[in-house]
Amino acid sequence: MYEFLTSHWTRPQPHSAYTARELWTDPHVAEQMLALHLDPDGDVASRNHRSIDRIVAWLDQRFDLSAGKRVLDLGCGPGLYANRMSRLGARVTGVDFSGTSLAHAERAAPDGVARPRYLAADYLDLELDEDFDLILLIYGDLCALNPAQRARLHESIRAWLAPGGSFAFDVFSSALFDQVEEEARYTFEPDGGFWSPESHFHFLRRFKYEDDALYLDRHAILEPEGTREMFNWMQCYDAESLERELDGLGWEVLATLGSLAGDPYDAARHDFAAITQPR
Ligand SMILES: C[S@@+](CC[C@H](N)C(=O)[O-])C[C@H]1O[C@@H](n2cnc3c(N)ncnc32)[C@H](O)[C@@H]1O
Repeated sequence: MYEFLTSHWTRPQPHSAYTARELWTDPHVAEQMLALHLDPDGDVASRNHRSIDRIVAWLDQRFDLSAGKRVLDLGCGPGLYANRMSRLGARVTGVDFSGTSLAHAERAAPDGVARPRYLAADYLDLELDEDFDLILLIYGDLCALNPAQRARLHESIRAWLAPGGSFAFDVFSSALFDQVEEEARYTFEPDGGFWSPESHFHFLRRFKYEDDALYLDRHAILEPEGTREMFNWMQCYDAESLERELDGLGWEVLATLGSLAGDPYDAARHDFAAITQPR
């Protein structure tokens, strides 16, 4: 116990562990996440549903989804975007490694030709021999990846885009980075809670890496039968640092926006969006 907590307390090297799969596919946590996705007013695992409606409407206006556009929604979760885009007439493929979320996406999908196709896969290992007009990665997923993973994902996306196709995504901002503070806290959940259905302690240690605009929420879950940790990395950007990174990867930023609902870029917001194309 002493050793475990000492390790939990220690600042790890940036991106020294990647636990996104455990975070999103643990059966109990996945059920909690699904409830957060489906909360129409919440902004935790997905944006509130009014914002999702705005984003889908703006994507339709910008990319003419209703004309049967081929859309790949990476990290589609429970299909909140994919099912809406399908209803508009887009041909959507959604990819996620959470079986719990995909099961909901399938249940809520529109019937008929418009029905999206859902693939249970890790988008970092995905092999797809198809072209898409628009590829999406929504709600800051890029920020959880290390630089090598981001570079590899951009290479895959380049291969999956049809000529003239676009990659649209959002990221968390430097304004958010400036606001978060390092912290350490714990709670006791004797009757179970978000991290486990059983009695457990949850420890959170937040580390900031000032030079990299990166922070980490390091979660430790202590249960009678053992301990586990989840590392939630958050790479934050401003318009310049994102453009620099994309330029280095051979991508052009066509538009920097406040959101994928077309709001103007605002450096004070906690997130922003980009429409990009491979050079
Ligand atoms: C923050 S949620 C956003 C879900 C959806 N885009 C939305 O905004 O409603 C991130 C989603 O990406 C999925 N995910 C994260 N990393 C993934 C990976 N490497 N491969 C496949 N899915 C991943 C998670 O399971 C989760 O459903």
